[in-house]
Amino acid sequence: MKEAKTFFMRTYGCQMNENDTEVMVGMLEKRGLKRTDDESGADLLLFNTCSIRDLAERKVMGKLGKLGKLRQNRPIIGITGCMANAKKETLFKKVPHIDFVLGTNNIHELNSVLDEVLLTGKQQARVDMRFEHELDYLQASRPDKVKAYVSIIRGCSKYCTYCVVPYTRGPEVSRTPESILEECQALADQGYKEITLLGQNVNSYGKDKPEWNTLFHDLLYKVDSIKGIERVRFMTSHPVDITLNLMQAIRDLKSLCEFVHFPIQAGSDRILHKMHRLYTKQQYLEKVQMLRELVPGVQLGTDIIVGFPTETDAEFQETYDVLEQLEYSVAFLFAYSPRKGTPAMRWMDDIPEAVKDERLQRLIALQNEIYKKQRQDMLGQVVEVLVEGVVDSETNSLKGRTRCWKNVVFQGPETLVGTLQNVRIHSFNHQTMAGDLVPKSTLQILS
Ligand code: SAH
Ligand code: SF4
Ligand code: F3S
Repeated sequence: MKEAKTFFMRTYGCQMNENDTEVMVGMLEKRGLKRTDDESGADLLLFNTCSIRDLAERKVMGKLGKLGKLRQNRPIIGITGCMANAKKETLFKKVPHIDFVLGTNNIHELNSVLDEVLLTGKQQARVDMRFEHELDYLQASRPDKVKAYVSIIRGCSKYCTYCVVPYTRGPEVSRTPESILEECQALADQGYKEITLLGQNVNSYGKDKPEWNTLFHDLLYKVDSIKGIERVRFMTSHPVDITLNLMQAIRDLKSLCEFVHFPIQAGSDRILHKMHRLYTKQQYLEKVQMLRELVPGVQLGTDIIVGFPTETDAEFQETYDVLEQLEYSVAFLFAYSPRKGTPAMRWMDDIPEAVKDERLQRLIALQNEIYKKQRQDMLGQVVEVLVEGVVDSETNSLKGRTRCWKNVVFQGPETLVGTLQNVRIHSFNHQTMAGDLVPKSTLQILS
């Protein structure tokens, strides 16, 4: 096979995958390859895949099936990400025209696997179950110039019974504080203003390495002290590990945004127990109350699964009631999807799809009402927006987000990208708030 000059890469799934893509793109660019959007013309095609639900896998399999019909001078095709670990070499049987399968814990081998494919023309698979080799995060190639992801812990050791992640990414492995801080400092030096610390459960940070004496909240104090980083966020957290120390950090650290993804998953104790979520509804509600008391104005996000095996109508209603009660500002709502290799597979997927869908639609309708009310409440308010980019340069339209993750569009010059601005909200449309720039001097006079 001849050396590839261009590559096309598509990412499915979550922010961890997006960040892994940035690292892989950096590795390939360092090798001299150029990224292209032209899928049919590229010499190397990479698909960074997701296994979280059946639909996520089907999307990729449909895509890969079509690639078999590509032109004669065919490209090298590589599958990376969670499906690589979930399906391993069986992918070669299902999709014979792929050249390599590279798991989430083998990203460091991307170039050597490519060399091997080029040299031998034979299919290659590398799918370790544990993350052991540090990645070259400093070389990551990021499309965004204002906000950046920084991985702090890989894998997950929580083993929720429905979830494939502990098997596709392996157990939790924290990254050294030195390496994280070096990357954050480098990002600040390059002009980045916002950092999102990433992990499947960031609050477990450091627990696997007690000798470092650095838990998640300790790390947050260090990241907050880096000059130039205006905003720090984190994704995602497990309620059981949200500590008082963390809540105090959110209250006290200037850069740390008052938004916490606090996924409840279900409102019934029996279902939570069956999901192995390690908290009861009461314990969860108490933590939320504590956080809301300590950090006024804090906003919460959640994930919810409906139709978990054996979930009754009454148990679903408990989930509905919690969603109504807590008024999350972000809610990701899913129908249960059985995953091979997870403990929940031993229970029958007994809730008919039509019932799952009906429950899901009820939650979506409820949450949409909550969103609408929250957006109406924002009308007339002045919010702080980090300007992330230009929507349309002809109309001078800019976009950004509030500290609590709301999208805002407004008019202003391109030079404002990367700065913090005050915007008075005057209207909203679906998920986006619209407003007018409030010159800083006006605010000073007012206050
Ligand atoms: N570590 C994160 C979740 C990552 S997966 C956390 O615990 O918050 C994102 C979400 O996908 C999960 O929170 C869950 O709501 C959903 N999910 C995971 N496995 C699923 C499955 N088998 N079926 C449906 N939804 C699932
Ligand atoms: Fe999956 Fe649970 Fe780990 Fe989240 S905490 S990644 S839902 S096993
Ligand atoms: Fe999907 Fe893997 Fe993320 S399964 S959601 S890409 S950790």
